[in-house]
Amino acid sequence: KRLVVLVSGSGTNLQALLDAISDTGAEAYGAEIVAVGADRDGIEGLARAERAGIPTFVRKVKDFGTREEWDAALAGAVAAYEPDLVVSAGFMKIVGKEFLARFGGRFVNTHPALLPSFPGAHGVRDALAYGAKVTGCTVHFVDDGVDTGPIIAQGVVEVRTEDDESALHERIKEVERRLLVEVVGRLARNGYRIEGRKVVIQ
Ligand code: GRF
Repeated sequence: KRLVVLVSGSGTNLQALLDAISDTGAEAYGAEIVAVGADRDGIEGLARAERAGIPTFVRKVKDFGTREEWDAALAGAVAAYEPDLVVSAGFMKIVGKEFLARFGGRFVNTHPALLPSFPGAHGVRDALAYGAKVTGCTVHFVDDGVDTGPIIAQGVVEVRTEDDESALHERIKEVERRLLVEVVGRLARNGYRIEGRKVVIQ
């Protein structure tokens, strides 16, 4: 299967996928990364793709007149690589109608909290501020809400009394990277169907 991965930052989730594919072999893993896209340049996520010899593209919101035009341009750039699955791995933008019309049902996101708790851009900070004793990560399909789509898998991480946002986020990311690699591989190898809110991996 063909994967396009979208990033906005350090790209350690992308790296975990790259490593898993090169360790296992694309055939056995079930998928290869055919391109990496971003909404900004100069980020480590893009550098990781370049080092792996994978084509990259950047579509910045500010280069387009409207958010809809940006969304259509992003969708077009992704579509050019004919992906079976698109993975948002720390991609910090909400996509729009056109993107979802093309890739809905095969657009996977990873979020650093146990949804439906603590959606949005500050899932780790919000869980900590709330005083949650457990949090974690959620891999889910993207729908038209913010972190509201059907859940594929979750991983649990305990909150420690001495945790600050960055320490907690680092422990979540260790679990998140393993979960994402496992889930994407299973989706790619086995196929799946989405029944309402339930994701059934065959
Ligand atoms: C992940 O925790 C992701 O869920 C969150 O941002 C982090 C991205 O990390 N939204 P990286 O860029 O993959 O290192």
